[in-house]
Amino acid sequence: MSKRQVMIVTGAGSGIGRATAYRLFQDGYVVVCADYNEKAAKETADEIIRRRGEAVAFRCDVSKHEQVEALVNFTVDTFGSLNGIVNNAGIGLVKPFLEMDPESYHKVIDVDQHGVYYGMYYTARKMVELKEKGTIINVASIYGFNVAAGSFNYHAAKAAVVIMTKSGGLELAPYDIRVVGVAPGFINTPILGNDQNFKDMLAKQHMRGRLIQPEDVAETIAFLASPNAWAINGTIVPVDDGFLAFK
Ligand code: NAI
Repeated sequence: MSKRQVMIVTGAGSGIGRATAYRLFQDGYVVVCADYNEKAAKETADEIIRRRGEAVAFRCDVSKHEQVEALVNFTVDTFGSLNGIVNNAGIGLVKPFLEMDPESYHKVIDVDQHGVYYGMYYTARKMVELKEKGTIINVASIYGFNVAAGSFNYHAAKAAVVIMTKSGGLELAPYDIRVVGVAPGFINTPILGNDQNFKDMLAKQHMRGRLIQPEDVAETIAFLASPNAWAINGTIVPVDDGFLAFK
């Protein structure tokens, strides 16, 4: 890499976000580790610094547009440039549809859908202003394509992420900014909870019957961020051990 590349990762305090922050550091990126759990984000950043990389933590609730704007401004004020963002922060809130009251619906939409839009919007505007090239990577889900009972809010948000990735790719192409995404299957992170029977049931839905690790998703994200993926744009890459092919 000729010039120091700077990438923001949201939800960097846990799971896929933390694994992605570590993986991007391995590729030489300066990583801004954003999370509303400041302590967890700092643990991720500190680990990168301990491994002699460059990283910083920033407390940010992605459902608040002022905070995402502040995150982007902080990044550029601190490091002088910005080459992309991994819009990864997300939550779930499982309820049957007949109990999916507006509060439960908006709770997930505000983070998983609007949070991604804010990340795309402020990052893209700043990159265009600075004439920086790079990649915006959205973490969608297999549940942006397929459905399971109890996740109406999550499906709505993740399907929006899929189409926002396509739309963003088209609109930002003139600026040489790619917009891509991943659709993870069932990934072994805290979001799945602690019930081993439940996790075993999820694992069986993959073609080879085992859960996927956050590092596997991070590997794909790192590839998508790299210049080798220059021809991949406006699309979502499943990291699902075949789930979408047969479910
Ligand atoms: P996780 O629960 O391990 O990590 C999520 C992180 O996001 C946490 O550090 C949390 O503090 C942070 N976060 C949550 N709300 C936030 C907000 N409003 N602002 C800032 N940070 C916030 O979960 P995991 O599994 O790593 O999930 C990451 C992404 O991957 C999410 O978007 C999730 O929907 C998606 N995903 C996960 C799958 C899985 O099976 N684990 C499958 C498909 C998609």
